[in-house]
Amino acid sequence: MTNKNDKTEQLQPTEPAPRIQRRRFLERLSVALGVVAGAVLAVPGFGFIFSPLWRKTPRVWRYIGRLEEFKVGQTVNVAFLDSSPLPWAGVTARTAAWLRRESEDKFIAFAVNCSHLGCPVRWLPKANLFMCPCHGGVYYSDGRVAAGPPPRPLTRFSVRVRNGGVEIETGPIPIT
Ligand code: FES
Repeated sequence: MTNKNDKTEQLQPTEPAPRIQRRRFLERLSVALGVVAGAVLAVPGFGFIFSPLWRKTPRVWRYIGRLEEFKVGQTVNVAFLDSSPLPWAGVTARTAAWLRRESEDKFIAFAVNCSHLGCPVRWLPKANLFMCPCHGGVYYSDGRVAAGPPPRPLTRFSVRVRNGGVEIETGPIPIT
């Protein structure tokens, strides 16, 4: 004959309480160790990917050619290395500018990137204007906005002549 106490004993857990607690503790410990290991692996990865966002771009003078290569009154496209090329940048490390020799010793240089969304602008000598092919932005010859969506004039680079060579000062280009 069975009594009420027998039924109660059948509903009791088969494992003793200390064993269950130990299992829970080990589960939580393994989850915590997994989180720590994930963080240890992820932090350097994020740092590697996002560090260029925080890195300050230096300003660097780049040689772009001999003084006699540039004719007074002409606006020409010159290419040079970015001021702080990333190791994996490849050909994108090269940038360009529109350079105009205004007089014997005076130059003016504009970034090729439109101040709207960065498309390369073209110099149209007959119209005396810079034109952006992307959204119809137009700039006067001095870089001021003439029409279209660009919010700012073309970025200017400093130019200097040293030992018969023309140098351009590269740096970060502000884009909207
Ligand atoms: S990128 Fe030049 S007008 Fe939009």
